[in-house]
Amino acid sequence: MSRSAHPAGPRHADVLPEGHYSAPPADLNALDPKVWAQTVTRGDDGAVTVGGIPVGRLAEEYGTPAYILDETDFRARARAWRTAFGPDADVFYAGKAFLSRAVVRWLNEEGLNLDVCSGGELATALSAGMPADRIAFHGNNKSAEEITRAIEAGVGRIVLDSFQEIVRVAHAAQSLGKRQRVQIRVTVGVEAHTHEFIATAHEDQKFGIPLAGGQAAEAVRRALQLDGLELIGIHSHIGSQIFDMSGFEVAAHRVVGLLKDIRDEHGIELPEIDLGGGLGIAYTSDDDPREPHEIAKALTEIVTRECEAARLRTPRISVEPGRAIVGPTAFTLYEVGTVKPLDGLRTYVSVDGGMSDNIRTALYDAEYSVALVSRTSDAAPMLARVVGKHCESGDIVVKDAFLPADLAPGDLVAVPATGAYCRSMASNYNHVLRPPVVAVRDGEARVIVRRETEEDLLRLDVG
Ligand SMILES: Cc1ncc(COP(=O)(O)O)c(C=O)c1O
Repeated sequence: MSRSAHPAGPRHADVLPEGHYSAPPADLNALDPKVWAQTVTRGDDGAVTVGGIPVGRLAEEYGTPAYILDETDFRARARAWRTAFGPDADVFYAGKAFLSRAVVRWLNEEGLNLDVCSGGELATALSAGMPADRIAFHGNNKSAEEITRAIEAGVGRIVLDSFQEIVRVAHAAQSLGKRQRVQIRVTVGVEAHTHEFIATAHEDQKFGIPLAGGQAAEAVRRALQLDGLELIGIHSHIGSQIFDMSGFEVAAHRVVGLLKDIRDEHGIELPEIDLGGGLGIAYTSDDDPREPHEIAKALTEIVTRECEAARLRTPRISVEPGRAIVGPTAFTLYEVGTVKPLDGLRTYVSVDGGMSDNIRTALYDAEYSVALVSRTSDAAPMLARVVGKHCESGDIVVKDAFLPADLAPGDLVAVPATGAYCRSMASNYNHVLRPPVVAVRDGEARVIVRRETEEDLLRLDVG
């Protein structure tokens, strides 16, 4: 990112400080469709609408902060992934990105499967009617109780993450008189984030069983010996917010190498391969994500080519996008509180939420954009930092962004692309109440996850 020239305006320093920002956008009122949900637009009066509803009305009815989720966009993205991969592949939505019963119903209706990684996510999925055989159960430390519940429910697959778990799941399945379909999650020595990937040893992490040193091959040997397990495939997940497909290329090459070794040693060809999730979205205008059909084409070609080279039948491919489906579909609506210009630095814009509703900036140094949404403004751009209300100086929502210099308390601002890993990672830090998720579609809004209340907090505090 470049440092920009200082635009004239009352709240500006003459020289802008170092930061992760480009030049101010030509039009601060414009909404880049790359980062905003599909039905977001500015009405004639300058206020932003979503699904045909002005944000001011949403703020009045549901309060702020609130996650506003565009159901039309969610369904369109889910459908695009489903269509792109077609009937010979499976798309498992990664529930960790954001899960609620309404979302489970939408996924079910759009023909997607679901990946869960805790008893809580499993309970949510089952309670909203997701057929158990379309659920994959993940996790590096599933409890014995979670494993039993998943097998009893009849989940379509459990993804085995360690040698101990191979035995645990086999034992639980046998005790229940069942044979559980499983995949083994391997670490392929590839780590991919955003535009980069490192194809060196990335086995030094808690997930999966390394291919290196023959450990994954040994896991396969053990799984094949156990009556309680039906080994259906190999799983690999290489990272997050990935734009560059070359990490998947290396991962597929290595996973297919294992499938070939399994064929040579055991005389069987495993029927499935799961390449995980991690596909990137646009958080700011600088990000250029790929469309689902491009991703599907690239992944299918990679796996087919690798299998042809290894003289293997091409296995059924599955993927687990979370962020790429839900991320762009929601924005967080905040009311502006204190506006504090710091001479020579930037203006701190405090909103009525913060790191409790979006921990990603503090946790991952994530970048977001922000816009004034309750009105338009012709004021000059001012360099702003959007911060929350928590007792923590790292409580930053948007590190560097331009907002109009006449921004004032009571204005509504929105941070787009907060559908993934915001509500699902939300906390009660400072006993701040977690915001609601309001789904909007065709001129109607409804709460799908309600706002937390002080009674909710006190109910857990049993004195
Ligand atoms: C195994 C697995 N699958 C899928 C995902 C979803 O990733 P994303 O939301 O980036 O697509 C994750 C994320 O951590 C994961 O660990």
